[in-house]
Amino acid sequence: MTLQEIADDIKGKRSLSDIDEVFLKSRILERVETYKIDINEEFKKLKRKDRYKEFFKDIRKTLRKVYGVYREIKEKRSKKTYLEIQEKIGNFDSVLDIGCGLSPLEYIEIFGKDKTYYLTDISKENIKEIQKYMKKNKVKGKTFLFNALDNYNEKLPKTDVIFLFKMLESLETIEKDSSERLFKQLKAKVILVSFSKIALSKGEGIKKKGRSWFRRMLSKNGYSFGDFDLEDEIFFLIK
Ligand SMILES: C[S@@+](CC[C@H](N)C(=O)[O-])C[C@H]1O[C@@H](n2cnc3c(N)ncnc32)[C@H](O)[C@@H]1O
Repeated sequence: MTLQEIADDIKGKRSLSDIDEVFLKSRILERVETYKIDINEEFKKLKRKDRYKEFFKDIRKTLRKVYGVYREIKEKRSKKTYLEIQEKIGNFDSVLDIGCGLSPLEYIEIFGKDKTYYLTDISKENIKEIQKYMKKNKVKGKTFLFNALDNYNEKLPKTDVIFLFKMLESLETIEKDSSERLFKQLKAKVILVSFSKIALSKGEGIKKKGRSWFRRMLSKNGYSFGDFDLEDEIFFLIK
């Protein structure tokens, strides 16, 4: 089947082999019209076309935003940052972290193993690693795969706090207003969102502090929020 062959072709490189198939196929199908890709055409023929090459490049670019290169840059937060985050939140017993990456390996120790952690990401590799850690350290909670862009209306556990650290921007670049859609599904006393203040890719320049689209979205939906900066990150505490 050509769709599968396209998906396998795009995955190609080892760095993308971890990719979520449903996510990838959605990104393919979203673009077939734009690039006039006929998924019933024989793959060998399709692959030779210039528009396939453009289409391929476009999808790869999106995938890099979600997976790829950025994840390999280890941007660790300091213990001091986590302690300040904790202070801002106040008391909490349970956390849902969406797009958690590997940061729970840093913060569980700091926030405490007496809390319950629901940790989720689109990346299987991340989830596997965290699962191992939770088992070994007898941490309460659950890890699971979750694609916040396409499966936003899946039932999520109810917790005191939700973390969305440095992941909304990637949703938004793929599909405008997808953050708002996700937000409407979230239920918690506190939602803590962060954005990196450092540009994620070459050529984009340094992003200015602010995220006005995000502020607008919050105001429009009647959320009250405050913001604060820690290291290279801006945080929004939403109630
Ligand atoms: C820049 S990292 C941030 C990781 C972590 N939240 C932190 O701040 O340390 C972005 C994370 O979002 C995840 N991610 C990207 N798109 C996603 C999606 N659609 N659904 C769920 N997770 C996603 C990536 O796999 C990655 O782990």
